[in-house]
Amino acid sequence: MTHIMILFQIVWRLNCFQMRKYHPPVPKPVPKNNNSLTISVFDMGISDEEWERLQKALDWPGPDQQITQLDLSTSPVHSTFSIAGLKNNYKVGDNISVIITARDHNKNLKTYGGDFFKAKLFSSELKASVYGEVVDHRNGTYSVTLLLPWEGQAHVFVRLEHSSEVVQILKKYRDSSFPRSHYNGHFEGSGPNKTRIIEVVECNLKWGAEGSWRKGSCCCEYKDIKTGTVWQCERPKKLSCDKLVYHSRGSMENPLNPFEKQFFAKTLTNVPITGDTQIINILPNTTDIANGMA
Ligand SMILES: *[C@@H]1O[C@H](CO)[C@@H](O)[C@H](O)[C@H]1NC(C)=O
Ligand SMILES: *[C@@H]1O[C@H](CO)[C@@H](O)[C@H](O)[C@H]1NC(C)=O
Ligand SMILES: *[C@@H]1O[C@H](CO)[C@@H](O)[C@H](O)[C@H]1NC(C)=O
Ligand SMILES: *[C@@H]1O[C@H](CO)[C@@H](O)[C@H](O)[C@H]1NC(C)=O
Ligand SMILES: *[C@@H]1O[C@H](CO)[C@@H](O)[C@H](O)[C@H]1NC(C)=O
Repeated sequence: MTHIMILFQIVWRLNCFQMRKYHPPVPKPVPKNNNSLTISVFDMGISDEEWERLQKALDWPGPDQQITQLDLSTSPVHSTFSIAGLKNNYKVGDNISVIITARDHNKNLKTYGGDFFKAKLFSSELKASVYGEVVDHRNGTYSVTLLLPWEGQAHVFVRLEHSSEVVQILKKYRDSSFPRSHYNGHFEGSGPNKTRIIEVVECNLKWGAEGSWRKGSCCCEYKDIKTGTVWQCERPKKLSCDKLVYHSRGSMENPLNPFEKQFFAKTLTNVPITGDTQIINILPNTTDIANGMA
């Protein structure tokens, strides 16, 4: 269950980061239309150039074809990191460069990018850490520049959050309109002889022009005045649509098929990778001290 929650958090996170760039033709500014769910470049008040720049900044490479074999995906066991030109001592304010090499389960170097690595410098003594930006060279290697902001010792830690194959799967479902989570609508009203009738039916957000509703007798619709979004509930058998009292969270949907599920195994996602674990010694910035005493 928690795993599914995390999956959807990531789906939404990617949503925020990458917007709608994955449909093969690069999105062009859309003329204003009457579908309230579509936000056009016009609505956002940005120029075409700005849109292009954002698309470029949000670009996330990945496999150029559908993945059919698990062993060709990035392996956290065989992927490694190293610190370029590791020295005995550094000064506060210096940078170190970390190179990550992604390999598949057959130990072959990956030929495309898109892996989601996180790299940080940390000190368990100081309970401090700092993350660096991971640059994807799109050839199976990644580089990270880490600032050394404190005096003392530090270690580098790199984790594979998700292989590029998992990111591809997440993108696929992000762009599709399967019902991600379900809600229950609670209806209450009076029946004959002063009895109370309570009915609980399934509800969901109306998705797309047609709506996502496929089962049961359709529908009661409710529009959120503030956001303009429309909710649909299966029509209750005895009560009318205006007898909706409240709604509650129902189940979450896991759209992954058995093949795809393997890529999300605990041993493959959110796993530290091996690499240079040497202690990094960071000395005070003597320039600073010299200046201070001068
Ligand atoms: C609104 O959308 C419908 C269906 O896509 C279309 O036929 C209609 O012309 C649109 N109206 C406006 C004002 O754009
Ligand atoms: C050390 O401190 C001086 C003065 O604040 C600064 O100019 C210099 O860039 C610092 N060195 C490093 C490596 O950060
Ligand atoms: C460390 O990296 C930052 C950002 O890339 C850069 O601004 C800074 O000058 C670098 N510091 C040193 C000492 O190279
Ligand atoms: C990957 O690309 C980087 C940056 O272009 C380059 O420095 C590196 O040599 C390449 N590595 C391989 C294995 O092709
Ligand atoms: C309503 O109550 C009356 C008297 O108690 C009873 O005869 C009748 O069957 C009830 N009707 C329903 C629909 O339950």
